[in-house]
Amino acid sequence: MKQKINLKDLYIDFFVRHDHKQIPSAPLVPENDPSVLFNTAGMQPLIPYLMGQPHPYGKRLCNYQKCLRTNDLDGVGDTTHHTFFEMLGNWSLGDYFKDESITWSLEFLTDVLKIPQERLAVTVFAGNDIIPFDEVSYNKWLSLGIPAARIAKTEKDNFWIAGESGPCGPDTEIFYFRSNDAVPETFDPEDDRWVEIWNNVFMQYYKDPDGQVTELPKKNVDTGMGVERTTAILEGVNDNYASSIWRDVIAEISKIANLPYENNEKSMRIIADHLRTAVFISADYAGIKPSNTDQGYILRRLIRRAIRHAKNLNIDLNSDWEERIARIIIKQYQEYYQELKDNENVVYEVLKNEKIKFNRTLEKGLREFAKATKDASQIDALTAFHLYDTYGFPIELTLEMAKEKNMAVDVAGFEAKFKEHQELSRTASAGKFKGGLAGNGEIETKYHTATHLLNAALKVVVGPDVHQKGSNITSERMRFDFSCDHKLTPEEIEKTEELVNNWIKEGLDVTVCEMPKTEALKSGAECMFIEKYPDLVTVYSIGDISKELCGGPHVKNTRELGTFKIKKEESSSAGVRRIKAVLE
Ligand code: ALA
Repeated sequence: MKQKINLKDLYIDFFVRHDHKQIPSAPLVPENDPSVLFNTAGMQPLIPYLMGQPHPYGKRLCNYQKCLRTNDLDGVGDTTHHTFFEMLGNWSLGDYFKDESITWSLEFLTDVLKIPQERLAVTVFAGNDIIPFDEVSYNKWLSLGIPAARIAKTEKDNFWIAGESGPCGPDTEIFYFRSNDAVPETFDPEDDRWVEIWNNVFMQYYKDPDGQVTELPKKNVDTGMGVERTTAILEGVNDNYASSIWRDVIAEISKIANLPYENNEKSMRIIADHLRTAVFISADYAGIKPSNTDQGYILRRLIRRAIRHAKNLNIDLNSDWEERIARIIIKQYQEYYQELKDNENVVYEVLKNEKIKFNRTLEKGLREFAKATKDASQIDALTAFHLYDTYGFPIELTLEMAKEKNMAVDVAGFEAKFKEHQELSRTASAGKFKGGLAGNGEIETKYHTATHLLNAALKVVVGPDVHQKGSNITSERMRFDFSCDHKLTPEEIEKTEELVNNWIKEGLDVTVCEMPKTEALKSGAECMFIEKYPDLVTVYSIGDISKELCGGPHVKNTRELGTFKIKKEESSSAGVRRIKAVLE
């Protein structure tokens, strides 16, 4: 059972009491937004709604959101940096504005969290040539009893935008005095004993890619509070990793390494942070696996850096240390994030496989590194590339290790080599991508429906754990990839084929309806990447044997399909089988 005294629960309860609807945390890997690798703020999935589109849940929303910022990945190791973090957010989409937003923030901090108001200070937007001083917020804070000396007017950090363009606006930030010193009367935002805990953005503008600022159709509020930071404050600790969020994870690392946290903080924090982030990335329904590009590369970097620090602590890399740590992380968060439950074993597998892969070369790579740095003043491009290409050392890892020895790395040279190599492999594989995408002709439509039938049949014959991992349709055949830990037996293939053909003969109607995603999932609808879908989804049902989130198109009745025949069953990748089938 989930304890109801947790910051996330208190926050949601508070805003639900103020008529907000809780929306689910969007996935870490953003839907329909190729401009970022990961969600960096709670507002990101809400951009269309901040721009004016009506939200299916209404005008007052709140949630806790998984976020990942990689800009200070290398800074992890100190007391305050994390890659993954949770953000608490409440939004007004053209509903309440500064007055209520500021009132509720202060009420939540002082009445619910019992933070003494004397330890708080705020910044407000001072104004510039384009946008005026935020006098409304300034006066609101004054009226709530925040003295003028604790309200700093700044321009620099008081205008919020995600990236270069999009919805944006002036903000007011709330700071807490985190120190045993006496609280100074006057607030100085540059004094780092004051830590920012909450940011209320008044999103009333849109900045286009040319820098032009225009008014949005509605005035919105977008707020964000950091869970890790606020928890540390509430628990009175100066090291975020000493708070209850990390306590069990650090204790487990300490147990595994048989070393105390003291004097080993840096490596232990890196292992804790990076494994937590790796758990969340690999549990995401997008199915990210370690690789050399995009999200997969971040995942790889995180796991490999954690492994290297585990080695620093003399942890036996061949033991199940990474799984033991991941288990604690999953246990801690699974009540909040369903994907951790659904993909628990996927996570362990991803971590283990990547560990095995890196372990094969780590030792040799470290020797190579030692050799290359023995009599040299810097790591040249060739060595850096060799460490990357042959021993799997992400360039950032080489950089970190070089920094520990006060050595530079020829990164530009490395990048040139890297590019050269990419060009070569691109040319080599150019011929492989000729296969056509599925068209929407009559025959493709039939194959599309047959895919749903096959998915349903495999669940009956092989087991409910079968899930679609991919599909490809041409006018000649269908290909279907699914999770399964064994080669199908001839009996299983025969039964599957028979079941699909029976359903075809039964003449089942194919129906479609639209519903909110959460309802669709609750009703047991199947889909490949749950979180890749928008909030309103189309669900296709075939009789009562199949229900899937899908964009279509499909035939009207299974009778139209003819005879289904499995031509081939083979391995696709680890834990994934592939069926090729035709309709005759
Ligand atoms: N979107 C705002 C932030 O990330 C709340 O700070």
